[in-house]
Amino acid sequence: MSANVTVVEHPLVQVKLTQMRSKETATPDFRRLLKEISHLLAYEVTRDLVLTEREVETPVERAMCPVLRDLEPCFISILRAGNGILDGMMDLLPSARVGHVGLYRDHETLEAIEYYYKVPTDMADREVIVVDPMLATGHTAVAAIDRLKKDGAKNIKFLCLLAAPEGIEEFQKGHPDVPVYTASVDQKLNEHGYIVPGLGDAGDRIYGTK
Ligand code: URA
Repeated sequence: MSANVTVVEHPLVQVKLTQMRSKETATPDFRRLLKEISHLLAYEVTRDLVLTEREVETPVERAMCPVLRDLEPCFISILRAGNGILDGMMDLLPSARVGHVGLYRDHETLEAIEYYYKVPTDMADREVIVVDPMLATGHTAVAAIDRLKKDGAKNIKFLCLLAAPEGIEEFQKGHPDVPVYTASVDQKLNEHGYIVPGLGDAGDRIYGTK
C-alpha cells in the first residue's frame, strides 16, 4: 500500500465491514455497524495522541497517570455521510471539538461548491481528523482539506471506511502530508463514481433515503 495509507486490518473491523457491504443489511443494522467500526477506527487514528501525566488520588494512594498533553482533537465531518462515522468517534472522545463541511460538485464546472461550513476557531491548535465513509474520486476530500488548511488546520488526518485506488491517488496529489486511515482499499471506481465492490451509497444506506 502507498506510503501514508493505513489499512486497519483488525478482524473485528473486517467482519463488520463484510456485513455492511451486503445489500441484505438494512438501515438500522448498517448504522449500528458503522458506529461500531468507527469506535475501532477511532482507536487506530488516535493511537499517536501525545500523553503527559497528572497526579490522581486513587482509593489506595496518589499516582501519576496518563492524560492527553494537548487540546482535544477536532473532528470534521464531511456532510452528510461523515456524520455516520462522527457519531462513533464522539462516543470515544466526547470532549473533542466538532466541525461540519458541506460541499457539492457543480455539474458544469465540476468545481466543489461549499454550502455549509462551521468549524472550531482554534483548529490550528488541535489535531484535526476529517471523516467521510467513502474516498471515491477524492475531489470532495481534497476540497474540504484545502478549505480547512486555509483556516489554519495544520495537523490533519483523514479517516474513511472504504477507499478507491483512484481516490487515494488524487488525495495524495492534493495533500501528500495528510495520512489516510481506512478499513479497505477496494478494486476501483465504476463509471458512475461508485467504489467497486464497495457498499453502495453510504449516505442512503445510513439514513435509509433509497
Ligand atoms: N459515495 C458513496 O456513497 N459510495 C460510493 O461508492 C462512492 C461515493
